[in-house]
Amino acid sequence: MAIIEGWLPPTRAHYDLILRAWQLAFPPLASIQWLVRWYPMGKTSVASRLNLPGRAAWMTMEAPGFLTLLYLMSTMPARHGVEDLPWQNRVLGGLFVIHYSYRAIAYPLLQPSMAPIHVFVWAAALCFQLINATCLGSWLSAYGPLTADAWAAQSPLPQFALGMLLFYVGLAGNFFHDEELREIRRRAAARQTNNKNNKNTAGPSSKANGSGGSSSSNGTSATSAHHHHYEIPQAGLFRYMLYPHYFCEWVEWLGFLMAAGWTCAPAWAFLVNEVASMLPRAVSGKRWYVERFGADKVGKKWAIIPGLL
Ligand SMILES: NC(=O)c1ccc[n+]([C@@H]2O[C@H](COP(=O)([O-])OP(=O)(O)OC[C@H]3O[C@@H](n4cnc5c(N)ncnc54)[C@H](OP(=O)(O)O)[C@@H]3O)[C@@H](O)[C@H]2O)c1
Repeated sequence: MAIIEGWLPPTRAHYDLILRAWQLAFPPLASIQWLVRWYPMGKTSVASRLNLPGRAAWMTMEAPGFLTLLYLMSTMPARHGVEDLPWQNRVLGGLFVIHYSYRAIAYPLLQPSMAPIHVFVWAAALCFQLINATCLGSWLSAYGPLTADAWAAQSPLPQFALGMLLFYVGLAGNFFHDEELREIRRRAAARQTNNKNNKNTAGPSSKANGSGGSSSSNGTSATSAHHHHYEIPQAGLFRYMLYPHYFCEWVEWLGFLMAAGWTCAPAWAFLVNEVASMLPRAVSGKRWYVERFGADKVGKKWAIIPGLL
């Protein structure tokens, strides 16, 4: 049964239309971030009645993507007379689901704390997920290669294998650097508990010393408006750049594109649109680090592309 007749799953004409709009309209829209500093989530979260709790917002804006892809892959082949999808279609669908099971479910549960997310950012991310999954899911289910011969021409086995390898390298790097940020919060929470315990042991004469302050004495840690603890991360690629988790995510989707074949239009659109939305965020994120910690503490770290930005 269709969720929206003709659109979800989309007919071939509607798929072409959605994909074209996704390719042409999203990059200029995302580029508005270069001009506007308002981006109410994470470090730049603001106090607003339209804020949603970080964890719940993250789950509900990210999960519809892989659920849509699963829905399309389980309904579209039969509608198009495809009895058995080639293994490449299933593997690529699986890679997408693996990434988003982490991003939508495990990631928000693993984060020690998350800043609130404004409903505007939540809605924009939800649209991104729905459109992206509709394009990729339709291509994988019916409008891309559907036979072994078509796959041999689309992405020969060595290319497919190399693309998958790149995907997993990117996924591991993305997880590793996400984990480093989590570790900063865990260490800060442990220090706070220790301090509390020490104060309790020392008795009522001991005084609190500035727990609500915005910077540490050596300028390497800070708390935000929503009282979350930030430090300049140092492990792994954080030595060279401030957003290696973003960079590794791009590597993931470059690997996906390589495996899907260089002519896979929805995989291209996905990669280009990820870069269009995350690049300005990383560049303004570097500005945030410099304003918060000072240029000397940030040092020579790039925002996201070593040697360039
Ligand atoms: N944002 C996007 O447009 C986007 C798009 C696609 C994929 N992703 C992926 O989603 C993941 C998260 O993205 P994001 O934009 O939320 O990344 P982010 O701004 O770096 O934040 C990631 C998490 O780490 C915490 N954090 C960030 N910097 C920290 C620091 N210096 N010290 C301690 N904790 C810190 C944040 O806490 P707070 O929440 O309290 O700030 C947040 O929970 C990344 O792996 C990224 O690749 C993001």
